[in-house]
Amino acid sequence: MAFPVDPRALAELPETEIVAVRAAFARAGFDERQMSACEAIAPRQLDAVRLPAVLHELSTRSDDASLLTAAFVYGGAVDGDALARALGTEGFGAMDRVGVFAPQDGRIRVRLRITPYRGVWIASDDLHEIDPVMGPGRTTDELAHCLDFRGVSSLLDVGCGAGSLALIARASGVAEVVGTDIDPRAIAYAHFNGRLNRLECTWLVGDLAAPVQGRRFDAVVSQPAYVAQPMALEGVTFLHGGVRGDELALRLLGQLDGLLEPRGKGWVLFDSPEVRVRELTTAVQQSLGTGRLDTCLIVTPGHSAADQAIGYASLRDRSLGTVYATTYGAYRRHFAGLGVDRVRHALVYVRGSAGRSVGLALEPSGLAGFTGKQLDEMLDGVAWAGAPVPELLAANVRPSAVARLVHEQSLSAAGDSRLWVRFERGAGVDQELSDTAALLVTCLRDHQPLEAAVAAYALEMEVAAKDATTQAVTFVRQGLRSGLLVVDPSSPAP
Ligand SMILES: C[S@@+](CC[C@H](N)C(=O)[O-])C[C@H]1O[C@@H](n2cnc3c(N)ncnc32)[C@H](O)[C@@H]1O
Repeated sequence: MAFPVDPRALAELPETEIVAVRAAFARAGFDERQMSACEAIAPRQLDAVRLPAVLHELSTRSDDASLLTAAFVYGGAVDGDALARALGTEGFGAMDRVGVFAPQDGRIRVRLRITPYRGVWIASDDLHEIDPVMGPGRTTDELAHCLDFRGVSSLLDVGCGAGSLALIARASGVAEVVGTDIDPRAIAYAHFNGRLNRLECTWLVGDLAAPVQGRRFDAVVSQPAYVAQPMALEGVTFLHGGVRGDELALRLLGQLDGLLEPRGKGWVLFDSPEVRVRELTTAVQQSLGTGRLDTCLIVTPGHSAADQAIGYASLRDRSLGTVYATTYGAYRRHFAGLGVDRVRHALVYVRGSAGRSVGLALEPSGLAGFTGKQLDEMLDGVAWAGAPVPELLAANVRPSAVARLVHEQSLSAAGDSRLWVRFERGAGVDQELSDTAALLVTCLRDHQPLEAAVAAYALEMEVAAKDATTQAVTFVRQGLRSGLLVVDPSSPAP
């Protein structure tokens, strides 16, 4: 079966033609603004339902950015003359020559996707094609949101696909970026995308980190293939991570220690059929296999087996016909065989430890709210949780910036009220607080170091300083382990 576009031909286009395409995109203002309006139309619906609505909306607009969005992002058939005008003679001619355009009912359909993403353009396949190369998607963005490039001058993106994460790292100023992928077509797309965005990276074909064996990086990032593969279905490179799905990700975790500089950091995002968090934590620790890395494991509820089966089956058959039905059945039987009705969606964040390594496992409702800075603060907090009392009392302990104290008042006759800590955008695990714990949290917000907060708390509670210290230290240790409390970096290391 032939692939729709040969990305190698794209990657080898002469520089003047790539410059012409880039200039046309910039001239048209082809960026994420049009997409965000479109993504709000029928969100979470299958493409078969969503795309006609999105394309209709775009067809009501007359600007070039909307035309390019319809053609390149959503694969709509557009007027050929208008597309030639928007791309300019040279840009249009170059793409035409390498087979990007296909005629359809007197109009033109684009046979790849180009997505404006965080300031760069990423060319990739339409995910409905056979064994496609993935461009930036929802999970790519989830991972991008929790990356932190401060202090990073070399980065490896394992399973880089079309190069999305590698390119945003390079665009954010990381000096040396390497992307690896087992799929040569993915690497060809990444190569083209580097040239399209004038971002120099190194792109290598091979299994996980094999192409960079012996090298170390300040950062490693990966969203490997992680979907469980039913035996009845042919493997899809960007999707399937093994029979269970998490095999590839766990194998990569085993390589992290050897890939990271002493204070390097790594992010790996994947799904696992392991429903028990304790078992998943053990599997992650065993795969990492080292005591050298601080480890933060964030485990969230992933998709249900039914939703996954619907999503992946609809990729194989966008018409939702017979192939869709049989593929859906194959996934459902496979998930049932694994004993899974919902997978776990997990982020592993590791960093070279400054001293004795620490670990943290959290089960929030989602990943979207976490940032790189917060992940570091949480790991620092866990290190501080074990500090001797005098050191802790001298530290600047405060509530996490994303924590909110919420007073919940029942409107029933009984009128009872409760106090909660909730986390912005779900970036933490909500917890109920007693009145005294809430008072302590506000003292921690208003007074620093911890010793001063304890004194204020003792005064408010009218208890002896010694009792207040005992209560506060117990609460603070727990709060540091749960992400509710953090320690200012200005405090001396524990
Ligand atoms: C889910 S896609 C992620 C793409 C990209 N990193 C992103 O976040 O958008 C997984 C990628 O892993 C690649 N892959 C699958 N098996 C691999 C292996 N054994 N070694 C390296 N890459 C692999 C696939 O080709 C695909 O590009």
